[in-house]
Amino acid sequence: MARLPLVKLLLGVASILSYANSANSKPTPVVLWHGMGDSCCNPDSMGQVKQTLEEELPGVYVHSIMIGNSDDDDRKASYFDQVNRQVQEVCEQLKSHSNLKDGFNAIGFSQGGQFLRAYVERCNDPPMHNLVTFGSQHGGVSEWPGCRDRNDLSCSLARSLLLRGAYLSWVQSRVVQAQYYKDAKNYETYLEKNIFLPDINNEREYKNATYATNLKSLKKFVMIMFEDDDMVVPKQSAWFGYWNEEGVVIPLRDQPLYKEDWLGLKEMDKAEKLVFETIPGRHMQIELAYLRDEIIPKYLGGKRQLVFQVDPAWN
Ligand SMILES: *[C@@H]1O[C@H](CO)[C@@H](O)[C@H](O)[C@H]1NC(C)=O
Repeated sequence: MARLPLVKLLLGVASILSYANSANSKPTPVVLWHGMGDSCCNPDSMGQVKQTLEEELPGVYVHSIMIGNSDDDDRKASYFDQVNRQVQEVCEQLKSHSNLKDGFNAIGFSQGGQFLRAYVERCNDPPMHNLVTFGSQHGGVSEWPGCRDRNDLSCSLARSLLLRGAYLSWVQSRVVQAQYYKDAKNYETYLEKNIFLPDINNEREYKNATYATNLKSLKKFVMIMFEDDDMVVPKQSAWFGYWNEEGVVIPLRDQPLYKEDWLGLKEMDKAEKLVFETIPGRHMQIELAYLRDEIIPKYLGGKRQLVFQVDPAWN
């Protein structure tokens, strides 16, 4: 109604902020990599994320990574496989998509986050612009989380194998989660036996300079930690944190990884390319509104736009 007091109209505007993408440029494609026990095309998880991206970034191309040839293969591969092999498969997969040839932004969920980081470090062709990771295990995990779903047989089996010893070579080469297992008490064994994490973190004596060069080419590397994460131990692993022998979590900036800049993270930090965020909730409790209102406009090219529309409740 025309006679609404101005002050009310302005208040109304604040509650109806929405985002729209500029009409004339095609949005940057987005690549997703799901977490443990999930799959590329699960309508309740990646499906909802894809839908939100498509709503907020009209015309966007979204590629949700699938390992193997089916949804079921992909879910099993989140427990049983060699991560190094998977990253190689993803390098080939992304290179073969003409829609991605000019580069893309990416969101990694839980373990998908450190796997996408490995993609950047090892291949990055086509190049990734921004990497957003939710509750990832960049610093490794010192405990094997319980299985949420008691009927998930792959999870139970992976768990029972991991409990025999994550560094046993037959466990290392088969169980995905063993490949980012890192306990503070056996650091030397971890360096020697773990086939994935010490390599992508450049923790061994030989440092691969390409890893740092590629990682530094990111515009933003956003690391999101869940405040009440009780699945990832320690939860600060999302920010590269890990325990010392006294059971204290050492933050990234106090680690040699940063101080000696094995991966270029220090340089990225100085250039304000690293973003450390905390959000409320337990592991992978992501509000779609957070994606829509924070992540998409800030890092995925969504544009804020004011929509003037009077709240119908006032009529
Ligand atoms: C360093 O990483 C690059 C990219 O993955 C690889 O091509 C190269 O072989 C690696 N160098 C060594 C010595 O392992």
